[in-house]
Amino acid sequence: MSAIYLLRKISTKTPSRFHRSLFFSTFSKESKPDSSRTNSIRHLSSQRFIPSSIYRFPQSKILPNRKFSTSVETNSSDKSFERIHVQSGAILERIHKIEEEETVSKVNVETERVVREESEAEKEAWRILENAVVRYCGSPVGTVAANDPGDKMPLNYDQVFIRDFVPSALAFLLKGEGDIVRNFLLHTLQLQSWEKTVDCYSPGQGLMPASFKVRTVALDENTTEEVLDPDFGESAIGRVAPVDSGLWWIILLRAYGKITGDFSLQERIDVQTGIKLIMNLCLADGFDMFPTLLVTDGSCMIDRRMGIHGHPLEIQSLFYSALRCSREMLSVNDSSKNLVRAINNRLSALSFHIREYYWVDIKKINEIYRYKTEEYSTDATNKFNIYPEQIPPWLMDWIPEQGGYLLGNLQPAHMDFRFFTLGNFWSIVSSLATPKQNEAILNLIEAKWDDIIGNMPLKICYPALEYDDWRIITGSDPKNTPWSYHNSGSWPTLLWQFTLACMKMGRPELAEKALAVAEKRLLADRWPEYYDTRSGKFIGKQSRLYQTWTVAGFLTSKLLLANPEMASLLFWEEDYELLDICACGLRKSDRKKCSRVAAKTQILVR
Ligand code: GLC
Repeated sequence: MSAIYLLRKISTKTPSRFHRSLFFSTFSKESKPDSSRTNSIRHLSSQRFIPSSIYRFPQSKILPNRKFSTSVETNSSDKSFERIHVQSGAILERIHKIEEEETVSKVNVETERVVREESEAEKEAWRILENAVVRYCGSPVGTVAANDPGDKMPLNYDQVFIRDFVPSALAFLLKGEGDIVRNFLLHTLQLQSWEKTVDCYSPGQGLMPASFKVRTVALDENTTEEVLDPDFGESAIGRVAPVDSGLWWIILLRAYGKITGDFSLQERIDVQTGIKLIMNLCLADGFDMFPTLLVTDGSCMIDRRMGIHGHPLEIQSLFYSALRCSREMLSVNDSSKNLVRAINNRLSALSFHIREYYWVDIKKINEIYRYKTEEYSTDATNKFNIYPEQIPPWLMDWIPEQGGYLLGNLQPAHMDFRFFTLGNFWSIVSSLATPKQNEAILNLIEAKWDDIIGNMPLKICYPALEYDDWRIITGSDPKNTPWSYHNSGSWPTLLWQFTLACMKMGRPELAEKALAVAEKRLLADRWPEYYDTRSGKFIGKQSRLYQTWTVAGFLTSKLLLANPEMASLLFWEEDYELLDICACGLRKSDRKKCSRVAAKTQILVR
């Protein structure tokens, strides 16, 4: 019986929320990994709550990469992986069979305590983070979004958000605590198959909620029980679909395996099914002409109307990362081989599309400035029919000689020239962009330090929408006024992603400098959610205090910088073989040329 069928059967047999919650309680007990595979995680989880210590993982103890479906592994000297060759989208050959499971189970993650004096800010941050932990049936399952005692209207900030939990999870993992992350991954997996409806319409089964809450409900006069109550957007302000949740879930699942060495979680049949459901949803055929994911406004961290509907960079870079994670984690068998093939093809097409069409630097802007329009042909230069007048005046002055970045969005006759921070950082981390582009993005940040970092790292996007743009594009949103909140506010949580990107590119000093700017203020300012004004000088107008992902982003940055070997488990290097995959089959045909081969500005990486 296929895994998908199994899950469907389960979901039709779990009629009420009450039944589900009972199911969850037993589920979490049953879900403990078997003893032969848990040495490492037990070992880690015994080191609980020692706030004044930092664990450094020695290089020699770093776990090997674990790859199932990653046929296009670049490190040819590494013989320890099963390798499958993929050509033109077809799996041709399985070359090497290894006793990988044994290798992994033999490896213990041993941690070595390196005593490092924690700053006052760090000590306080750990205290707040531990206070933010949410329990379900006695076990930790996540962290609330904010714990602001002065907040009379918490709205949904008392819930566990999938995206907000990622930096918390990493902080716990890097400290040696895996249980909370494991529980989170398994419980949110169950929510994935919840019957979700918005006005009688049911979105795809793979959808993950934006957030969930633990509620206590009365069964009868004397008995209560806890249930998990997810929000798939049906209560969210603006009814936004959380497209990023499933992508983050996959990214976190891989990180959990990498850091703890407990690969049994990702091997479970229900977890493999969860990955497949998310991937199937993302890879479903539609009307799209592009390999990028087409989404509505507000489908990610920027969860209000900000003119990012279409193909926003943030979703594309998370999608690319989730594809890479899935390729590593999915076990290849008859039921998954088509999906694996689709993943490989999409990875290749997506990276080509982003590298080629989203990239801007001074040279490219000059090209766009001189574009001819209305070109009707397969080898047009101005493929998307961009009118040069679209180049915003601010950009002509702003773009530095050195450096560049990936556009915020690309659609027919539309380029969103705003700089979106998360998407650019995550393109570095996942190697969606080329090594040269990655370097150039950091060069741009260095050159534009005052605009992107200023008094508080990091601007969510640059620049702000003002005047008519603000009125028309945000719908006159009073929360997103210029230089506030999503409209170019400064979000300290983005620090951990900046740190990871800098470490990947061998420039940790940039991250240290930004972290020092944040550390000067965060404790005194009581860990705000975001800051306002052009230079991030003021605590945000409607900013929550004691915002958990601000705290966790700060701690995770510290821990990553202290543990470069661990950080290196969380990013990806360029995969050269992926670049060779081309699924269009036109290369050999005389009649028509493959547009990738014909591309005028092939972005070379080698
Ligand atoms: C806001 C943010 C969103 C975050 C949520 C909880 O809605 O826009 O990104 O997940 O708050 O912190």
